[in-house]
This record gives sequence, structure tokens and C-alpha cells, in this order.
Amino acid sequence: MTDRIAETLEKLSAFGRTADGGVTRLPFTAESEAAAQFLLQYFREAGFRAFRDATGAVHGISEDPAGAADLPRILIGSHYDSVVNGGRFDGVTGVVCAAEAVRAYREAGGRGLSPEVIATNDEEGVRFSRGFLTSTAMCDGFSDRDFAEIVDLETGETLGQVLAAHGCDPEAVKAMKDSISGYDAFLEVHIEQGPVLYKNGEQIGVVTGINGIRRFLVTFRGEANHAGSTPMNLRKDAFYMAAQVVQYVYDEALRTEGVVATVGHAEIFPNAQNVIPCEVTFTIDMRSADDGRMETLAEKIRRRALDAAEQAGGSVIFRQTMQVPPVAMSGHFLQLLADACAARQLSFCRMESGAGHDAEIFGRRIPAGMLFVPSIRGISHNPAEESRIPDIAAAAEVLRTALVMYGDESAEKELQTQ
Ligand code: HGY
Ligand code: MN
Ligand code: MN
Repeated sequence: MTDRIAETLEKLSAFGRTADGGVTRLPFTAESEAAAQFLLQYFREAGFRAFRDATGAVHGISEDPAGAADLPRILIGSHYDSVVNGGRFDGVTGVVCAAEAVRAYREAGGRGLSPEVIATNDEEGVRFSRGFLTSTAMCDGFSDRDFAEIVDLETGETLGQVLAAHGCDPEAVKAMKDSISGYDAFLEVHIEQGPVLYKNGEQIGVVTGINGIRRFLVTFRGEANHAGSTPMNLRKDAFYMAAQVVQYVYDEALRTEGVVATVGHAEIFPNAQNVIPCEVTFTIDMRSADDGRMETLAEKIRRRALDAAEQAGGSVIFRQTMQVPPVAMSGHFLQLLADACAARQLSFCRMESGAGHDAEIFGRRIPAGMLFVPSIRGISHNPAEESRIPDIAAAAEVLRTALVMYGDESAEKELQTQ
């Protein structure tokens, strides 16, 4: 298992590899498509019934050999897309762990479950203004309005246009709504993307809850004019308006306990050295375990933005593009995963997730559980992102043990009801 984990992660990292050893694998791109075809083959070689859904996600079902019907259906996996120039472990570590755990479970004679492995698409929400494409489609779903309002941040293409251009029928995506209710549980292994496990020398994290996310798109408009002949007091400089608000975002986030905020994407128009910028758009990504704090901070920033625009004689559009509340993992799976760690004599720690994951979308609808693998030096979303293969293999073993335990307890429950 360990060798195949290393080999598969290495092969996956080639799809979108960047010059400095990172990975850029945005959804609905050639590299993303190549990774999906690879995953289909990898799932088939594991003995799964493999297929893709309308969002481009890759599924692999390991049918119970006895062909028993109405067995507990457990969905296990993570995402196969990446950020821009990110690391080669984010997302795919969970896909490979899931596939290897289910394969080992079945090869060891595991019965009583029909686990389904999933590699979700566009979890990151880097190309478009919103992420969690597959998990949202399977839960609350998408509307025609969503397909029109969610846009590619670089090109302005709508999600609906990109889906159609890639042969993904938006109507079929809409039809995926509530499909999550056909599953009994969701489990995800992911790299921690933070320093806790690595600093404490722990091998496994059992996730108790996942921070909420709020994202905003802010556009300032001023007036293009000559950089040399326009007096400072006659300018309507959109970048000057934006700069004040970006500074305010950081200052206020520093002052607000339990909230982090990032301005990660910005565009300036016309982006010419000798032209006063007339339009600047930037994103704000906020995270917290307390949605109310994000709401309060967002309102302060919105008001600050209106002031900056008014003072400079410009205008501003302040739009919330994403809101995902914090979610607690299932107490049942917290215990089951802790028991599985104990059964493997692995020390673990219970911990919150600062990063967002599909488990926070699925976990609002069905019981969800998450395991973390240490990130060396806590670095992620960076080519230097690194996790140790033995730690990843240990997580896959814990997952396999949890499947056996879950299958046994489900069979026990079945007997009691007869
Ligand atoms: O942005 C996140 O928290 C995750 O990497 N999708
Ligand atoms: Mn991730
Ligand atoms: Mn990520």
C-alpha cells in the first residue's frame, strides 16, 4: 500500500506541475481532465466501478462481493483540483488514502459495506468566485442564477458557460441536488495545512470541527486619467481607494480574535504605469469558527469601503460571493476514528480545521468525520507543501480499520433489529 500511495501521488503531481515543483490544476482545464482520466483508471485497477458525475468528479464504488443490497453507503474522499502553484498533497492525499483504504478493506475480505470513493472537483474555488462545486451540487445544489452569477475571476466567463464548454450539462449538475442523502456518512483524510501536528510530533489529527468561510468581491471605480498632468487633489484613483480598504481588512483582522482574512486576488484596470487606475477588483477570504464575528467584521469593512469611495469621488460594489457556516464533525465518527487510531496504536490529537474542506459541506447534511496528516513545517498552498508517506499510509490504515469497525457495528445493529 505504502509504495502505491507514493507512486500514485507522484503521478498525480505531474498533472499541472509548475516550474518550481508546485501544482496548478484548476477545474475544467487540460491538466485537470488528464488527472481525472488517470483517477478513473486508478479506481478501476483497484476493482471499483468507476464513473464521473456532471461536475467532473470521479467516483469509484467498491460493491459488496455478496451483492447484498441496502448496505450502509459510506462516501470517502477529497478533491483533485488545486490552487495556483500549490502543493502536490492538498486534496489528492485524501483521494489516494480513500482508494487504498477501501481496496485494502475489500482485499482483506471486508464485507457489509459498499464504500464509494470520490475525487471531488473545484473544491478550492480559485478559478471561480465560489468553490465546493461537487459537494455543493450533491447537497443544496445549484440554480440557473448561480450558474450565471458564479464567474471565472480572470475571464468573467460564467460557471454555466464553462460547464457547457466542457460537456458538463448544467441541468445534470442541478439534478445532483440532495444526492448526498443517499449516503450514510462521509469521511475525509486531508493534510493539516497548519503547524499543530508537526510541532507536537503527532502522526494523526482527528478533526472536531471546520471553520466557516465568507468570501467577498469588491470593485472600486474611479476615473482613468493622466499620471503626469492630473493634480493629486483632482484624482479619482481606484487603486488608492482599494489600498485603504485592504489595509483596513488586515488591521481589523489582526484586532479581531478568532478571525483571519486574506486579500488573495486583485485586478487593476487599465494596469498601465502612466494611467490613474479607474477600476480595481479584489477578493476578501475570511475564516472563523464563529460566523457572527465574520458578519460583524464584514459590515465594518463594507462601511469603510463606502467611505473610501465617497471621499475619492468614486463608487464601490461590495458583494458577498460565498458563505459557508462552521460545522462540527459527527460525534459518532469522532469516536470511531479515535477508536481506529487506538486500534492501530497511533497517538492522535483532536483538533479544529482552519482550512475549508468538502467535509464541511457534506457534514451539514450527513454525519462526517475527518483525519489530518501532518504538514511538514505547517506549510500548504505552496510548492514546499510536504507530508511524509509513512504518515499518509498510517492514515489510510486508520481509515481501513474504521471501515471494518463501521461495518461490524452496522451488522450488529442489523442483527438487533431482526
Ligand atoms: O481554502 C481552503 O480552505 C481549502 O484549501 N479549500
Ligand atoms: Mn484541500
Ligand atoms: Mn486547498
